[in-house]
Amino acid sequence: MLSIRAFAVVLALGCLGTFVQAQPTYSREVSRIIQQKCQMCHRPGDIAPFALMNYDDARVQARAIRGAVDSRIMPPWKPIPGHGEFQHDLSLSDEDRQTILDWVDAGSPEGDPADLPPPVVYAEEWRLGPPDQIVSMPLPYVPIPREDRPDRYRCFVLPNVTDQDRWVRAVDIVPGQRQLVHHVLLYLTDDPDQIKLLKQFEDEDAEPGYDCWGGPRITPGAGPGLLKAAGGLLGAWVPGMAVSELPPSIGLLVPKGAYAIMQIHYHLDDGPATVADMTRLGLYFQKDPPKNRLLTLPLLNDQFVLKPGVEGQQVNMEFPLDLGAFGLPLPDAFVPKFSAIAVGPHMHQLGRKIRADLVQPDSTQVPLIEIDDWDFHWQGLYQFKDPVPLPYRSRITASCVFDNTTDHEVRWGESTNDEMCLVYIGFIAEGGLSWLLFGNPS
Ligand code: HEC
Repeated sequence: MLSIRAFAVVLALGCLGTFVQAQPTYSREVSRIIQQKCQMCHRPGDIAPFALMNYDDARVQARAIRGAVDSRIMPPWKPIPGHGEFQHDLSLSDEDRQTILDWVDAGSPEGDPADLPPPVVYAEEWRLGPPDQIVSMPLPYVPIPREDRPDRYRCFVLPNVTDQDRWVRAVDIVPGQRQLVHHVLLYLTDDPDQIKLLKQFEDEDAEPGYDCWGGPRITPGAGPGLLKAAGGLLGAWVPGMAVSELPPSIGLLVPKGAYAIMQIHYHLDDGPATVADMTRLGLYFQKDPPKNRLLTLPLLNDQFVLKPGVEGQQVNMEFPLDLGAFGLPLPDAFVPKFSAIAVGPHMHQLGRKIRADLVQPDSTQVPLIEIDDWDFHWQGLYQFKDPVPLPYRSRITASCVFDNTTDHEVRWGESTNDEMCLVYIGFIAEGGLSWLLFGNPS
């Protein structure tokens, strides 16, 4: 028979178990969560307004941390779990969120400093080591808020990025002014007419670069292949998000002589900058030419009208993965095999929700991404953990939900007062006529 004493011990251990769980300490649990999910932004000189490097930092901010974590404002990772699986996911698990809440509610105990994890060592600059090529903004630029809008969106033209065709495996950005640079989008063009336009925009603007709010104001596209537009996106950078590296079998082509356009969002809440920004772009090349080219196409609806003063207006779009729908009824033997590699939803400031799904030929639905608290300040290009097969004759569907809180109709456009409903799909196309359509190496 189980003795009373043994029973008491089991009971005590049980209580101790709950006690340990209910009493997380900074040194044991919280410091580890902060290292993995907060510190990359909350460290001195980075984008977040305060650092979370040690117990005192966290204790002083404990109430604010509770609020931000409970309301899911922080960390600013937007995709809803279960709708696409992404690399470098910054979201908090329910368990970690509860640990933080319990820790604050218990009076933010420090615990035993001997339990602390070793500190994370952050790269001074380039997170993947020295890049194969560094391209800098041509001239330093001091961002000053415009009268009509506080933040500044500026495009810088980087001519002749590479001296030969290069296959890129990773792109990183080192902002000149970390506290100000809120996102960077990189486009490519090798089209002489578009390059002429870029030069015109620069000439018309007295300062370095030119103003560009919702996009580069040109039609990006580069490289061989009939669908040139699929080679127009070079990358996206958001503070705190890890650099995504492509596997050796995939590369992003920067053709010899192509121009890159670096769109920088400067966050100027604290007023005009006092020092100049000189943001740099680092390119990492594949050693050997890859089998497949990373391509990107926007899935978009540019025909919508949002009625004034109406919330919850939904805009839908759909892309049939069927070349026949584009007047190219290829026999199936010539059709490439498509897989999604990355996804990047994009709206402006009236956007509330956005999602994209794959509807397979047998009608089963695979969620690609869903965001239900859109924030224009935190948009990324999310790379899937594993490529998502896109069976031929599937459809990619997407929808945006807008609250038009203004007193006027809103339509598609690149300026602050316009809206967009767009999802970038990064993909590869293997075999078939992929070399002809997309300039795929094999
Ligand atoms: C990707 C960068 C990034 C990550 C990761 C991040 N933060 Fe933040 N945090 C910011 C920025 C930037 C702000 C300033 C407000 C803003 O721009 O949204 C902020 C603001 C805050 C605030 C103040 C919120 C307020 O209402 O003023 C708290 C508290 C906070 N973060 C806690 C955390 C915690 C805890 C984590 C990790 C669980 C975390 N943050 C992860 C960038 C980040």
